[in-house]
Amino acid sequence: ESHPEAPSQSVGPEYQPATQKPKATVSTVIPQSNVTILPQTSQLIALLTMIRDKNTGRADFIFYSNRIIRLLVEEGLNHLPTVEHSITTPVGQTYSGVKFEGKICGVSIMRAGESMEEGLRNCCRSVRIGKILIQRDEETSKPKLYYDKLPEDIADRWVMLLDPMLATGGSALMAVDVLKSRGVPEDHILFLNLIASPEGAKNFAERFPKLRVVTAFVDQGLDEKNYIVPGLGDFGDRFYTM
Ligand code: PRP
Ligand code: URA
Repeated sequence: ESHPEAPSQSVGPEYQPATQKPKATVSTVIPQSNVTILPQTSQLIALLTMIRDKNTGRADFIFYSNRIIRLLVEEGLNHLPTVEHSITTPVGQTYSGVKFEGKICGVSIMRAGESMEEGLRNCCRSVRIGKILIQRDEETSKPKLYYDKLPEDIADRWVMLLDPMLATGGSALMAVDVLKSRGVPEDHILFLNLIASPEGAKNFAERFPKLRVVTAFVDQGLDEKNYIVPGLGDFGDRFYTM
C-alpha cells in the first residue's frame, strides 16, 4: 500500500498570482506514459470536491459525475485517429480541417461503468455499447466475470472501455483480457476512468503498454479493504442505490 504525500498545488486562472489562488490536492504524478491525466483545472477540482464529499446526495453525485465523465469522453476522443478533411464554408472559402476515421464502440464494466454510457452517447450519437459484468468479491477484492455481450465486429473497432474506479486494477485487467480474447488489438483500447489508485494505474498500464488510459485523477493509495483513498467510497452505490 503506497500512501504518498498528497501533491498540493494552487488552482485557479493562470493569470491569478499563486498567492491569491486556493490550494488543493491535485493528482499524483505517475511515470507511465500511456496514462493521460486530465489537466488539474479549478473546474475539475471543484467537480471532484463535490463527488468526493460524503455529504453530497445522489442527485448531485450523478450531476457532477456526469460533468467529469463528459470531460473524460471529450479527452478520450482526442486519442482516436483523424484524417485531413477540407470543406467549403458558406462564404465560399476552403477550410482545411480533420475528421474522425474508424469505427468505435463503448464497453462498460457493470455496474458502475454503465454510469459512463450516457456521456459517451452524448458525444457519439448512436454508438454501439457492449457490457461486461465483473464484480469484485467483497472479502478478497478479487474480480469475478459473470457475463459479457459485445458487438460482433468488436475486433474492427476502437473500444472505449468504461469504469469510473480503478482500485487494485483487477476488474479492468480482466475486462481487457476479455476484449483481447475477442481479437481487439491492445492499441485500439482506451480506458476511461474517473479515479485510479497509483498501484492500480501502474499495474494496469505496465501490463498493457500499448493501451491508453485517460483518467481524471490518480489518488493517494488503497486502504485495508482495497478502497481508493481519499477516494469517494463505492461509486456504484452512490450513483445507483444510495
Ligand atoms: C468497483 C468498480 C470497479 C472495481 C474496481 O466495482 O466499479 O469495477 O470495483 O476495483 P478493482 O480495481 O480493485 O478491481 P464493484 O465490483 O464494486 O461493482 P459495482 O460496479 O457493481 O459497484
Ligand atoms: N470500487 C469503488 O467503487 N470504490 C473504491 O474505492 C474501490 C472500488
